[in-house]
Amino acid sequence: MYRGLRGHSMINAFQNIRNFYWKINLRLQGIRFGRGLVLMPLSHIYQGNGRIAIGNNFSTNRNVVLNADGGGEIIIGNDVSIGCNTVIRAANHDYVTRRGHIPGKIAIADNVWIGANAVILPGVHIGARSAIGAGSIVTKDIPADVVAVGNPCKPIKKIAPPDLSSSDGSD
Ligand SMILES: CC(C)(COP(=O)(O)OP(=O)(O)OC[C@H]1O[C@@H](n2cnc3c(N)ncnc32)[C@H](O)[C@@H]1OP(=O)(O)O)[C@@H](O)C(=O)NCCC(=O)NCCS
Repeated sequence: MYRGLRGHSMINAFQNIRNFYWKINLRLQGIRFGRGLVLMPLSHIYQGNGRIAIGNNFSTNRNVVLNADGGGEIIIGNDVSIGCNTVIRAANHDYVTRRGHIPGKIAIADNVWIGANAVILPGVHIGARSAIGAGSIVTKDIPADVVAVGNPCKPIKKIAPPDLSSSDGSD
């Protein structure tokens, strides 16, 4: 029990060190990010000669890649969470000339949740509060407030706004 607790606090300490490392890494790359950034192990954010901007409370699970190299752009809003193994890549190889990249802009609005193993391709906008299913390949824009799944990823249902009305009888 005691050992388990000690192991847990060591893991937390490593997590804090990793987040500290990533904050320095992002600053050195010139990437703007908000408060509450949490990147789980093996995640990588690489701006290269593109641009990345990240809002508040951004979190990734393990092995998530954000890559804007090749002149692309990745703009992430507030409160965005990303599942394991997801790739967000804002440029295609120019497969015709076989030279360089064709960049695109990826914009992910506030409160979006992306499941594990998704791929977000260049030129895509994901609307606020939407959820992207595990394994989805997002090739086109996804509107706000929907659940979208599949390859290619398409909306399957609307998400109703949560009922925030008070039920404690105080009003
Ligand atoms: C997208 C998701 C949130 C939908 O959950 P839900 O609202 O409970 O939806 P349901 O399970 O009722 O599924 C609705 C339909 O979509 C299909 N579906 C659900 N998720 C899907 C997915 N990721 N890809 C393809 N189809 C999917 C279901 O098979 C079902 O199809 P049907 O109507 O033909 O039976 C969930 O399925 C999902 O993918 N979660 C991601 C979990 C994850 O990756 N967590 C992070 C780990 S690091």
